[in-house]
Amino acid sequence: MIQIPRGTKDLLPEETAKWQVIEKVIRDTCDVFQYKEIRTPIFEHTDLFTRSVGDTTDIVQKEMYTFTDRGDRSLTLRPEGTASVVRSYVENKMFGWVNQPVKLYYLGPMFRYERQQAGRYRQFVQFGIEAIGSNDPAIDAEVMALAMSVYKKMGLEKVKLVLNSLGDAESRNAHKEALIQHFEGRIGEFCSDCQSRLTKNPLRILDCKKDRDHELMATAPKLPDYLNEDSKNYFEKVQAYLNELDIPFELDPNLVRGLDYYNHTAFEIMSEGEGFGSITTLAGGGRYNGLVSELGGPDDTPGIGFAMSVERLLLALEAEGKAVQTIENVSFYIAAMDEESKVAAVKLTHNLRVNGISAETDYLNRKVKAQMKSADRLEATYAIIIGETEMETGIAKAKNLQTGESVEFSLADGLNELKKLVS
Ligand code: HAM
Repeated sequence: MIQIPRGTKDLLPEETAKWQVIEKVIRDTCDVFQYKEIRTPIFEHTDLFTRSVGDTTDIVQKEMYTFTDRGDRSLTLRPEGTASVVRSYVENKMFGWVNQPVKLYYLGPMFRYERQQAGRYRQFVQFGIEAIGSNDPAIDAEVMALAMSVYKKMGLEKVKLVLNSLGDAESRNAHKEALIQHFEGRIGEFCSDCQSRLTKNPLRILDCKKDRDHELMATAPKLPDYLNEDSKNYFEKVQAYLNELDIPFELDPNLVRGLDYYNHTAFEIMSEGEGFGSITTLAGGGRYNGLVSELGGPDDTPGIGFAMSVERLLLALEAEGKAVQTIENVSFYIAAMDEESKVAAVKLTHNLRVNGISAETDYLNRKVKAQMKSADRLEATYAIIIGETEMETGIAKAKNLQTGESVEFSLADGLNELKKLVS
Protein backbone atom coordinates (compact mmCIF):
# COMPACT_ATOMS: atom_id res chain seq x y z
CA MET A 1 0.00 0.00 0.00
CA ILE A 2 1.33 3.45 -0.89
CA GLN A 3 1.11 5.87 2.00
CA ILE A 4 1.03 9.64 2.23
CA PRO A 5 4.50 11.30 2.23
CA ARG A 6 5.94 12.18 5.64
CA GLY A 7 5.11 15.67 6.83
CA THR A 8 1.95 15.99 4.72
CA LYS A 9 -1.70 15.53 5.63
CA ASP A 10 -5.00 14.64 4.03
CA LEU A 11 -7.75 17.01 5.04
CA LEU A 12 -10.96 15.00 5.20
CA PRO A 13 -14.37 16.71 4.91
CA GLU A 14 -14.75 17.27 8.65
CA GLU A 15 -11.44 19.18 8.60
CA THR A 16 -11.99 21.04 5.34
CA ALA A 17 -15.22 22.44 6.78
CA LYS A 18 -13.10 24.08 9.52
CA TRP A 19 -10.55 25.29 6.99
CA GLN A 20 -13.27 26.95 4.97
CA VAL A 21 -14.45 28.87 8.03
CA ILE A 22 -10.87 30.04 8.70
CA GLU A 23 -10.33 30.94 5.05
CA LYS A 24 -13.48 33.04 5.13
CA VAL A 25 -12.33 34.89 8.25
CA ILE A 26 -8.99 35.53 6.52
CA ARG A 27 -10.56 36.81 3.29
CA ASP A 28 -13.11 38.98 5.14
CA THR A 29 -10.36 40.47 7.30
CA CYS A 30 -8.20 41.25 4.26
CA ASP A 31 -11.21 42.83 2.63
CA VAL A 32 -11.85 45.26 5.51
CA PHE A 33 -8.13 46.06 5.78
CA GLN A 34 -8.03 46.50 1.98
CA TYR A 35 -5.49 43.84 1.05
CA LYS A 36 -6.11 42.21 -2.37
CA GLU A 37 -5.35 38.59 -3.21
CA ILE A 38 -2.35 37.59 -5.32
CA ARG A 39 -1.69 34.04 -6.57
CA THR A 40 1.84 33.18 -7.63
CA PRO A 41 3.24 29.82 -8.85
CA ILE A 42 3.99 26.97 -6.45
CA PHE A 43 7.53 26.72 -7.87
CA GLU A 44 10.04 29.44 -8.72
CA HIS A 45 13.63 29.67 -9.91
CA THR A 46 15.85 28.50 -7.04
CA ASP A 47 17.89 31.73 -7.21
CA LEU A 48 14.88 33.71 -6.05
CA PHE A 49 15.03 32.10 -2.62
CA THR A 50 18.82 31.97 -2.25
CA ARG A 51 18.93 35.70 -2.97
CA SER A 52 16.04 36.79 -0.78
CA VAL A 53 15.67 34.32 2.10
CA GLY A 54 19.47 34.13 2.20
CA ASP A 55 22.00 31.39 1.44
CA THR A 56 23.12 31.00 5.07
CA THR A 57 19.61 30.38 6.44
CA ASP A 58 18.32 26.96 7.48
CA ILE A 59 15.54 27.28 4.92
CA VAL A 60 17.94 27.59 1.98
CA GLN A 61 20.68 25.31 3.34
CA LYS A 62 18.56 22.42 4.56
CA GLU A 63 14.88 22.73 3.85
CA MET A 64 14.17 23.45 0.20
CA TYR A 65 12.57 21.04 -2.23
CA THR A 66 14.81 21.80 -5.19
CA PHE A 67 14.77 19.88 -8.46
CA THR A 68 16.06 20.16 -11.98
CA ASP A 69 13.37 20.16 -14.65
CA ARG A 70 13.62 18.54 -18.06
CA GLY A 71 15.04 21.77 -19.47
CA ASP A 72 17.89 21.64 -16.93
CA ARG A 73 16.62 24.56 -14.86
CA SER A 74 16.93 24.56 -11.09
CA LEU A 75 13.46 25.09 -9.61
CA THR A 76 12.26 25.08 -6.01
CA LEU A 77 8.87 24.49 -4.42
CA ARG A 78 8.26 27.77 -2.61
CA PRO A 79 9.24 27.60 1.08
CA GLU A 80 7.54 30.96 1.80
CA GLY A 81 5.56 33.65 0.02
CA THR A 82 7.37 36.97 0.38
CA ALA A 83 10.05 36.29 -2.26
CA SER A 84 7.45 35.37 -4.88
CA VAL A 85 5.26 38.37 -4.12
CA VAL A 86 8.21 40.76 -4.37
CA ARG A 87 9.38 39.07 -7.59
CA SER A 88 5.89 39.57 -9.01
CA TYR A 89 5.79 43.18 -7.73
CA VAL A 90 8.96 43.93 -9.70
CA GLU A 91 8.06 41.87 -12.76
CA ASN A 92 4.59 43.42 -13.06
CA LYS A 93 5.88 46.92 -12.27
CA MET A 94 3.45 47.36 -9.43
CA PHE A 95 5.49 50.38 -8.31
CA GLY A 96 3.71 52.17 -11.17
CA TRP A 97 0.19 51.35 -9.96
CA VAL A 98 -1.95 54.34 -9.00
CA ASN A 99 -2.95 52.93 -5.62
CA GLN A 100 0.06 52.95 -3.32
CA PRO A 101 1.24 51.29 -1.19
CA VAL A 102 0.47 47.99 -2.91
CA LYS A 103 -1.28 45.78 -0.35
CA LEU A 104 -1.45 42.08 -1.21
CA TYR A 105 -2.38 38.84 0.51
CA TYR A 106 -1.89 35.16 -0.33
CA LEU A 107 -3.15 31.87 0.97
CA GLY A 108 -1.62 28.64 -0.23
CA PRO A 109 0.74 25.71 0.30
CA MET A 110 4.44 26.16 1.12
CA PHE A 111 7.08 23.43 1.31
CA ARG A 112 9.97 22.93 3.73
CA TYR A 113 11.93 19.76 4.33
CA GLU A 114 11.73 19.91 8.14
CA ARG A 115 11.71 17.27 10.82
CA GLN A 116 8.08 16.35 11.31
CA GLN A 117 6.56 17.24 14.68
CA ALA A 118 3.39 18.87 15.97
CA GLY A 119 3.06 22.21 14.22
CA ARG A 120 5.85 21.50 11.75
CA TYR A 121 4.96 19.99 8.40
CA ARG A 122 6.68 19.58 5.05
CA GLN A 123 3.65 20.96 3.25
CA PHE A 124 1.71 23.61 5.13
CA VAL A 125 -0.62 26.44 4.19
CA GLN A 126 0.48 30.00 4.81
CA PHE A 127 -1.72 33.03 4.89
CA GLY A 128 0.43 36.11 4.46
CA ILE A 129 0.23 39.78 3.57
CA GLU A 130 2.73 42.18 2.06
CA ALA A 131 2.45 45.98 2.01
CA ILE A 132 4.99 47.36 -0.44
CA GLY A 133 5.85 51.01 -1.03
CA SER A 134 5.37 52.67 2.35
CA ASN A 135 7.87 53.64 4.98
CA ASP A 136 5.25 54.82 7.43
CA PRO A 137 5.47 53.25 10.91
CA ALA A 138 1.65 53.34 10.93
CA ILE A 139 1.60 50.57 8.34
CA ASP A 140 3.84 48.40 10.52
CA ALA A 141 1.14 48.69 13.16
CA GLU A 142 -1.56 47.93 10.57
CA VAL A 143 0.19 44.71 9.51
CA MET A 144 0.43 43.50 13.11
CA ALA A 145 -3.15 44.61 13.78
CA LEU A 146 -4.41 42.54 10.86
CA ALA A 147 -2.65 39.41 12.13
CA MET A 148 -3.99 39.89 15.65
CA SER A 149 -7.44 40.57 14.26
CA VAL A 150 -7.58 37.16 12.53
CA TYR A 151 -6.65 35.37 15.76
CA LYS A 152 -9.17 37.41 17.72
CA LYS A 153 -11.99 36.69 15.26
CA MET A 154 -11.23 32.98 15.51
CA GLY A 155 -11.67 33.29 19.28
CA LEU A 156 -8.06 32.89 20.43
CA GLU A 157 -7.33 34.65 23.70
CA LYS A 158 -3.91 33.39 24.73
CA VAL A 159 -1.79 35.03 22.04
CA LYS A 160 0.94 37.58 22.49
CA LEU A 161 2.72 39.85 20.08
CA VAL A 162 6.49 39.96 20.50
CA LEU A 163 8.43 42.78 18.90
CA ASN A 164 12.02 43.77 18.14
CA SER A 165 13.85 46.10 15.82
CA LEU A 166 16.71 44.87 13.66
CA GLY A 167 17.55 48.45 12.65
CA ASP A 168 18.81 49.78 9.35
CA ALA A 169 21.95 48.65 7.49
CA GLU A 170 24.27 50.83 9.58
CA SER A 171 22.91 49.50 12.88
CA ARG A 172 23.04 45.93 11.63
CA ASN A 173 26.64 46.28 10.55
CA ALA A 174 27.66 47.61 13.94
CA HIS A 175 25.90 44.67 15.57
CA LYS A 176 27.48 42.24 13.13
CA GLU A 177 30.96 43.43 14.08
CA ALA A 178 30.15 43.02 17.76
CA LEU A 179 28.84 39.49 17.17
CA ILE A 180 31.98 38.46 15.29
CA GLN A 181 34.12 39.71 18.17
CA HIS A 182 31.92 37.94 20.69
CA PHE A 183 31.97 34.49 19.04
CA GLU A 184 35.35 34.53 17.24
CA GLY A 185 37.54 33.25 20.07
CA ARG A 186 35.37 30.21 20.83
CA ILE A 187 33.76 29.49 17.45
CA GLY A 188 35.43 26.05 17.52
CA GLU A 189 32.88 24.99 20.15
CA PHE A 190 30.01 25.59 17.71
CA CYS A 191 28.54 23.42 14.96
CA SER A 192 30.05 23.55 11.45
CA ASP A 193 27.11 25.62 10.17
CA CYS A 194 27.75 28.28 12.81
CA GLN A 195 31.44 28.27 12.00
CA SER A 196 30.74 29.12 8.38
CA ARG A 197 28.14 31.70 9.48
CA LEU A 198 30.63 33.62 11.64
CA THR A 199 31.97 35.90 8.95
CA LYS A 200 29.15 35.62 6.40
CA ASN A 201 26.16 36.16 8.62
CA PRO A 202 26.82 35.93 12.38
CA LEU A 203 23.21 36.90 13.19
CA ARG A 204 22.18 33.42 12.01
CA ILE A 205 24.23 31.88 14.85
CA LEU A 206 21.67 33.29 17.25
CA ASP A 207 18.86 31.13 15.88
CA CYS A 208 20.87 27.93 15.48
CA LYS A 209 18.80 25.03 16.74
CA LYS A 210 21.87 22.92 17.65
CA ASP A 211 23.85 25.46 19.66
CA ARG A 212 20.88 27.08 21.33
CA ASP A 213 22.14 26.32 24.86
CA HIS A 214 25.77 27.40 24.48
CA GLU A 215 26.70 29.90 27.22
CA LEU A 216 27.85 32.51 24.69
CA MET A 217 24.31 32.69 23.29
CA ALA A 218 22.82 34.32 26.36
CA THR A 219 25.60 36.91 26.61
CA ALA A 220 25.70 37.75 22.88
CA PRO A 221 25.45 41.46 21.93
CA LYS A 222 21.82 42.46 21.48
CA LEU A 223 20.60 44.31 18.44
CA PRO A 224 18.62 47.02 20.25
CA ASP A 225 21.88 48.23 21.84
CA TYR A 226 23.28 48.95 18.38
CA LEU A 227 20.38 50.90 16.87
CA ASN A 228 21.32 54.31 15.49
CA GLU A 229 19.10 57.39 16.04
CA ASP A 230 16.98 56.91 12.91
CA SER A 231 16.31 53.27 13.69
CA LYS A 232 15.46 54.06 17.31
CA ASN A 233 13.04 56.80 16.27
CA TYR A 234 11.35 54.56 13.78
CA PHE A 235 10.94 51.78 16.32
CA GLU A 236 9.49 54.18 18.89
CA LYS A 237 6.89 55.40 16.42
CA VAL A 238 5.85 51.83 15.61
CA GLN A 239 5.35 51.17 19.32
CA ALA A 240 3.42 54.41 19.76
CA TYR A 241 1.02 53.41 16.96
CA LEU A 242 0.50 49.97 18.50
CA ASN A 243 -0.37 51.68 21.77
CA GLU A 244 -2.83 53.95 19.97
CA LEU A 245 -4.50 50.90 18.41
CA ASP A 246 -4.68 49.20 21.83
CA ILE A 247 -2.56 46.28 20.68
CA PRO A 248 -0.50 44.98 23.58
CA PHE A 249 3.03 43.77 22.82
CA GLU A 250 6.22 42.64 24.51
CA LEU A 251 9.74 43.60 23.49
CA ASP A 252 12.23 40.80 22.92
CA PRO A 253 15.79 41.92 22.07
CA ASN A 254 16.63 38.32 21.08
CA LEU A 255 14.05 38.03 18.33
CA VAL A 256 16.02 37.80 15.07
CA ARG A 257 13.78 35.77 12.65
CA GLY A 258 15.04 32.98 10.42
CA LEU A 259 15.12 34.83 7.09
CA ASP A 260 17.75 37.31 5.91
CA TYR A 261 15.66 40.01 4.28
CA TYR A 262 14.50 41.75 7.44
CA ASN A 263 15.43 45.15 8.84
CA HIS A 264 13.76 47.50 11.33
CA THR A 265 10.53 45.97 12.66
CA ALA A 266 10.55 42.21 13.33
CA PHE A 267 7.75 40.46 15.16
CA GLU A 268 6.27 37.10 16.04
CA ILE A 269 2.94 36.11 17.50
CA MET A 270 3.09 33.31 20.05
CA SER A 271 0.48 31.06 21.59
CA GLU A 272 0.44 30.78 25.35
CA GLY A 273 -2.26 28.10 25.29
CA GLU A 274 -1.46 25.18 27.56
CA GLY A 275 -0.46 22.02 25.76
CA PHE A 276 0.42 23.84 22.57
CA GLY A 277 3.75 22.03 22.46
CA SER A 278 7.27 23.28 22.00
CA ILE A 279 6.71 25.28 18.83
CA THR A 280 4.69 28.21 20.03
CA THR A 281 5.16 30.65 17.16
CA LEU A 282 1.91 31.18 15.29
CA ALA A 283 3.03 33.92 12.92
CA GLY A 284 6.11 35.91 12.01
CA GLY A 285 6.92 38.91 9.94
CA GLY A 286 8.71 42.19 9.60
CA ARG A 287 10.06 44.92 7.40
CA TYR A 288 12.25 44.21 4.35
CA ASN A 289 13.27 47.57 2.92
CA GLY A 290 16.11 46.20 0.79
CA LEU A 291 14.34 43.27 -0.84
CA VAL A 292 12.62 45.02 -3.76
CA SER A 293 15.88 46.51 -5.04
CA GLU A 294 17.71 43.21 -4.36
CA LEU A 295 15.26 41.57 -6.76
CA GLY A 296 15.73 44.20 -9.45
CA GLY A 297 13.07 46.77 -8.50
CA PRO A 298 13.48 50.48 -7.81
CA ASP A 299 15.97 51.40 -5.08
CA ASP A 300 14.67 52.20 -1.62
CA THR A 301 11.26 50.60 -2.07
CA PRO A 302 10.20 49.62 1.43
CA GLY A 303 8.04 46.64 2.34
CA ILE A 304 6.55 44.87 5.33
CA GLY A 305 4.44 41.77 5.87
CA PHE A 306 3.86 38.63 7.87
CA ALA A 307 2.74 35.04 7.42
CA MET A 308 0.94 32.50 9.59
CA SER A 309 0.12 28.88 8.94
CA VAL A 310 -3.43 27.67 9.11
CA GLU A 311 -2.17 24.42 10.69
CA ARG A 312 -0.72 26.25 13.70
CA LEU A 313 -3.83 28.39 14.05
CA LEU A 314 -5.88 25.19 14.31
CA LEU A 315 -3.47 23.76 16.90
CA ALA A 316 -3.73 26.95 18.95
CA LEU A 317 -7.52 26.77 18.85
CA GLU A 318 -7.35 23.17 20.03
CA ALA A 319 -4.96 24.10 22.85
CA GLU A 320 -7.43 26.75 24.05
CA GLY A 321 -10.33 24.33 23.70
CA LYS A 322 -12.03 26.53 21.10
CA ALA A 323 -14.15 24.82 18.46
CA VAL A 324 -14.50 26.11 14.92
CA GLN A 325 -18.22 26.57 14.24
CA THR A 326 -19.04 24.87 10.97
CA ILE A 327 -22.46 24.80 9.29
CA GLU A 328 -22.95 21.69 7.26
CA ASN A 329 -26.58 20.67 7.46
CA VAL A 330 -28.74 20.03 4.43
CA SER A 331 -32.07 21.85 3.92
CA PHE A 332 -34.16 18.96 2.55
CA TYR A 333 -33.88 15.19 2.70
CA ILE A 334 -36.19 13.48 0.23
CA ALA A 335 -37.11 9.87 0.93
CA ALA A 336 -38.91 7.53 -1.46
CA MET A 337 -41.10 4.53 -0.57
CA ASP A 338 -41.01 2.64 -3.88
CA GLU A 339 -39.54 2.63 -7.35
CA GLU A 340 -42.10 4.94 -8.88
CA SER A 341 -41.82 7.58 -6.16
CA LYS A 342 -38.04 7.29 -6.32
CA VAL A 343 -38.09 8.94 -9.75
CA ALA A 344 -40.14 11.81 -8.31
CA ALA A 345 -37.72 12.07 -5.35
CA VAL A 346 -34.67 12.25 -7.63
CA LYS A 347 -36.39 14.91 -9.76
CA LEU A 348 -37.41 17.02 -6.74
CA THR A 349 -33.89 16.77 -5.28
CA HIS A 350 -32.45 18.00 -8.57
CA ASN A 351 -34.96 20.85 -8.88
CA LEU A 352 -34.15 22.07 -5.39
CA ARG A 353 -30.42 21.94 -6.09
CA VAL A 354 -30.55 23.84 -9.35
CA ASN A 355 -32.56 26.47 -7.50
CA GLY A 356 -29.74 26.90 -5.02
CA ILE A 357 -31.24 24.85 -2.17
CA SER A 358 -29.22 22.01 -0.65
CA ALA A 359 -30.95 18.66 -0.89
CA GLU A 360 -30.08 14.98 -0.52
CA THR A 361 -31.79 11.72 -1.37
CA ASP A 362 -31.11 7.99 -1.04
CA TYR A 363 -28.86 6.15 -3.49
CA LEU A 364 -28.74 2.80 -1.70
CA ASN A 365 -32.43 1.87 -2.13
CA ARG A 366 -32.92 1.61 1.60
CA LYS A 367 -36.19 1.24 3.53
CA VAL A 368 -37.86 4.52 4.50
CA LYS A 369 -36.84 4.07 8.12
CA ALA A 370 -33.16 3.88 7.17
CA GLN A 371 -33.58 6.87 4.85
CA MET A 372 -35.01 8.90 7.73
CA LYS A 373 -32.01 7.95 9.86
CA SER A 374 -29.82 9.41 7.12
CA ALA A 375 -31.89 12.60 7.25
CA ASP A 376 -31.19 12.82 10.99
CA ARG A 377 -27.49 12.17 10.58
CA LEU A 378 -27.25 14.89 7.93
CA GLU A 379 -29.13 17.23 10.31
CA ALA A 380 -31.67 17.93 7.57
CA THR A 381 -33.95 20.85 8.34
CA TYR A 382 -36.89 19.27 6.49
CA ALA A 383 -37.73 15.71 5.45
CA ILE A 384 -40.09 14.87 2.60
CA ILE A 385 -41.41 11.33 2.11
CA ILE A 386 -42.82 10.46 -1.30
CA GLY A 387 -44.93 7.29 -1.63
CA GLU A 388 -48.04 5.91 -3.35
CA THR A 389 -50.43 8.48 -1.77
CA GLU A 390 -48.23 11.45 -2.66
CA MET A 391 -47.93 10.18 -6.25
CA GLU A 392 -51.71 9.77 -6.52
CA THR A 393 -52.71 13.12 -5.00
CA GLY A 394 -49.72 15.09 -6.26
CA ILE A 395 -49.43 16.61 -2.76
CA ALA A 396 -46.54 15.90 -0.35
CA LYS A 397 -45.51 17.19 3.07
CA ALA A 398 -42.29 18.82 4.17
CA LYS A 399 -41.75 18.06 7.83
CA ASN A 400 -39.59 20.28 9.98
CA LEU A 401 -37.44 17.78 11.89
CA GLN A 402 -36.88 20.17 14.80
CA THR A 403 -40.45 21.34 15.46
CA GLY A 404 -42.34 18.41 13.95
CA GLU A 405 -44.55 20.82 11.98
CA SER A 406 -45.53 19.86 8.43
CA VAL A 407 -46.29 22.01 5.40
CA GLU A 408 -48.10 20.66 2.33
CA PHE A 409 -46.90 21.47 -1.15
CA SER A 410 -47.63 20.45 -4.72
CA LEU A 411 -45.13 18.04 -6.23
CA ALA A 412 -45.72 19.56 -9.67
CA ASP A 413 -45.27 23.25 -8.85
CA GLY A 414 -44.58 23.67 -5.14
CA LEU A 415 -40.95 24.69 -5.43
CA ASN A 416 -41.63 28.27 -4.38
CA GLU A 417 -43.28 27.14 -1.15
CA LEU A 418 -40.26 24.98 -0.34
CA LYS A 419 -37.94 27.89 -1.11
CA LYS A 420 -39.84 30.11 1.33
CA LEU A 421 -39.42 27.51 4.08
CA VAL A 422 -35.63 27.81 4.06
CA SER A 423 -35.10 31.38 2.92
P1 HAM B 1 8.40 32.29 8.74
O1 HAM B 1 8.61 32.72 10.15
O2 HAM B 1 9.41 31.42 8.13
O3 HAM B 1 8.19 33.61 7.90
O4 HAM B 1 7.00 31.55 8.63
C1 HAM B 1 5.81 32.20 9.02
C2 HAM B 1 4.86 31.23 9.65
O5 HAM B 1 4.65 30.10 8.80
C3 HAM B 1 5.32 30.61 10.95
O6 HAM B 1 5.12 31.47 12.02
C4 HAM B 1 4.40 29.40 11.02
O7 HAM B 1 3.08 29.78 11.40
C5 HAM B 1 4.34 28.97 9.59
N1 HAM B 1 5.28 27.87 9.32
C6 HAM B 1 6.57 27.95 8.95
N2 HAM B 1 7.09 26.73 8.78
C7 HAM B 1 6.11 25.85 9.04
C8 HAM B 1 6.01 24.43 9.02
N3 HAM B 1 7.05 23.66 8.67
N4 HAM B 1 4.82 23.85 9.35
C9 HAM B 1 3.76 24.62 9.67
N5 HAM B 1 3.80 25.95 9.71
C10 HAM B 1 4.95 26.58 9.39
C11 HAM B 1 7.95 33.66 6.56
O8 HAM B 1 7.66 32.70 5.89
C12 HAM B 1 7.94 35.06 6.00
N6 HAM B 1 7.72 34.97 4.55
C13 HAM B 1 6.88 35.90 6.67
C14 HAM B 1 6.83 37.28 6.12
C15 HAM B 1 5.95 37.78 5.23
N7 HAM B 1 7.68 38.24 6.42
C16 HAM B 1 7.34 39.34 5.73
N8 HAM B 1 6.31 39.03 5.00
